[in-house]
Amino acid sequence: MRSNFKNLLPVILPACIMYFAACNQPAKTTTTTTTMTDSTSQATLPPAKGFEKTLDGKQGHLYLLKNKNGVQAAIANYGAHLVGLLIPDKAGKLTDVAIGFDDIDSYKKALSNYYGATIGRYGNRIAKGHFTLEGKAYTLFINNKPNSLHGGKVGFNDVMWDAKQIDDHTITLTYLSKDMEEGYPGNLQCKVTYELTDDNAVKISYEATTDKTTVVNLTNHSYFNLNGAGSGTILNHTVQFKAANFTPVDSTLIPTGKIVPVAGTPFDFSTATTIGARIETKDEQLKNGKGYDHNYVLDKHDITTPVATVIGDLSGIKMEIFTEEPGLQFYSGNFMDGSNTIWGGKKDEHRTGFAMETQHFPDSPNQPQFPTTTLKPGQTYKTVTIYKFSVNK
Ligand code: GLA
Repeated sequence: MRSNFKNLLPVILPACIMYFAACNQPAKTTTTTTTMTDSTSQATLPPAKGFEKTLDGKQGHLYLLKNKNGVQAAIANYGAHLVGLLIPDKAGKLTDVAIGFDDIDSYKKALSNYYGATIGRYGNRIAKGHFTLEGKAYTLFINNKPNSLHGGKVGFNDVMWDAKQIDDHTITLTYLSKDMEEGYPGNLQCKVTYELTDDNAVKISYEATTDKTTVVNLTNHSYFNLNGAGSGTILNHTVQFKAANFTPVDSTLIPTGKIVPVAGTPFDFSTATTIGARIETKDEQLKNGKGYDHNYVLDKHDITTPVATVIGDLSGIKMEIFTEEPGLQFYSGNFMDGSNTIWGGKKDEHRTGFAMETQHFPDSPNQPQFPTTTLKPGQTYKTVTIYKFSVNK
């Protein structure tokens, strides 16, 4: 017992110091984040400085959320990004599980990857950038040939939101997307609330209202690496989904319109399987996606039971996803190519992060058989997704 305890000391001590340090911070830390360092290389969050830039006449900041366990999240009002998320691993070491950058310019350089961003007005692709609503045709910017992706040229990820930090746990961000911005009809008033709960969950609540009939599909595009951002491949993470079906895509990643069972395909994650186990299988869908880049049709569920569980093989960190959305885009970081330097100094190498974007299905405005993404005046778009973290037992 005694010698075990001795062995654990180097791990426990820094964890305790971190914990008490975190508890002693001032209640309001709206513009500075805590950089926590010690000899065991605990992960840290980027300093606020790189986010204090003015854009469209609005001041940028980096906001810090924290809970009673020393868990911390950094949120930028630029693009309503989740910039970093420090979670204790199986040894109690704080690990940054969400890939981020240390300044706005780096986010702008890596714009097409959408690291940690809030996505809107429409998450994922709309075929050829066209849709028709109440008999009127709309044209969007083609930013992912031949389609429009994640809101178009200047999506919600690339604008300055208004932020209000409510308390240590909660921040609310609002953005007014004007009528015909990026080709979408209606003034869309959006609100995204990030809450870091005391059970180590990041709860993201979305709300939107419009003054003209429009389409809306908001999501978060965090790239997770549960072994730690910059720690290498995510291919050995295990994934489990509660989804018997998915929406196959054509070679431009637009759903074919069919809903197809995953059973017997490399898309079957109904039992925990590593991401890498079948990713190189000769399969038309894996070829189209250059790996996993597909929308799962979640089995009937509500917000109380997880629809997805992912475990980091080295850290033991488990992430469970709860959502009110009908779909989940599983993206295995296939377009990551090492051309960006992430917070922590490492390159964003191929498949060193994965995204789990809870959403309505891609191209729904053109596919009436999918759950609708239409929002009318007088209605309120409201949806919640929770990413909950623990150590796998
Ligand atoms: C989504 C898309 C992918 C890719 C990433 C960002 O997950 O489905 O094809 O565009 O965003 O790089």
